[in-house]
Amino acid sequence: MAYELFPYFRTLDDVPGVIDWREFFGNKNPVELDIGCGRGRFLVESGLRRPDVNLVGLELDYKEGRRGAKRLAKRHFHHVRVVGGDARRFLNERVRAASIDAAHVYFPDPWWKRRHRRRRIFTEEFATRLSALIVDNGDLHSWTDVEDYFDEIRAIMDSHPDYIAQDVPEYAPDDYRTSFHKRRAEAGCTIYRGHWRRRPRIVEAASLLEAQSSPS
Ligand SMILES: C[S@@+](CC[C@H](N)C(=O)[O-])C[C@H]1O[C@@H](n2cnc3c(N)ncnc32)[C@H](O)[C@@H]1O
Repeated sequence: MAYELFPYFRTLDDVPGVIDWREFFGNKNPVELDIGCGRGRFLVESGLRRPDVNLVGLELDYKEGRRGAKRLAKRHFHHVRVVGGDARRFLNERVRAASIDAAHVYFPDPWWKRRHRRRRIFTEEFATRLSALIVDNGDLHSWTDVEDYFDEIRAIMDSHPDYIAQDVPEYAPDDYRTSFHKRRAEAGCTIYRGHWRRRPRIVEAASLLEAQSSPS
């Protein structure tokens, strides 16, 4: 157990089994994930602006994750936590289906070299796993300054049967969502922003029934 920053920082091994969010946070509020949260700028900003939303940052790099957790501890947040470890493992092993209200994936590592591209976290499999975890009408946000990665993400999401693309409103230029957002925007990079909504499952079930009952 990583006691030093507990409960602000835990490792994946400190949270065995499927998480009961009510128990984890001690409340019934909606839960969102920040996947690859880095040093936690979004966690802090969101924590301040939205005290009624529980938020978990997932971060592979413990040093960065702990840095974020220290910022949460300083503010005595009861509703924002960091879990250190591979987000993919977390999503596959720790999260109950349809228990997440929104997922945020900001500036995922681009893995520039062509031979490393398959290490990119945002794949069709990742989108499908998230669709199992996000509630009906829940949201998936992903931003990046890497144009070809955004094209890839958009192609996956726009063609995915579980999601509907949403308009992304204009954003105040100096209202930075994450550390990478600030760094890349200040360097003059274009920021590509995507927002998709999880289709209600009831519609899928209804259309399945309709298909079964209609004559072929
Ligand atoms: C480019 S940084 C962006 C950090 C933050 N989202 C931001 O916008 O400032 C990408 C982050 O994702 C983390 N990361 C990469 N692969 C991950 C994985 N499989 N699970 C959790 N975090 C991961 C990296 O350690 C890094 O901190």
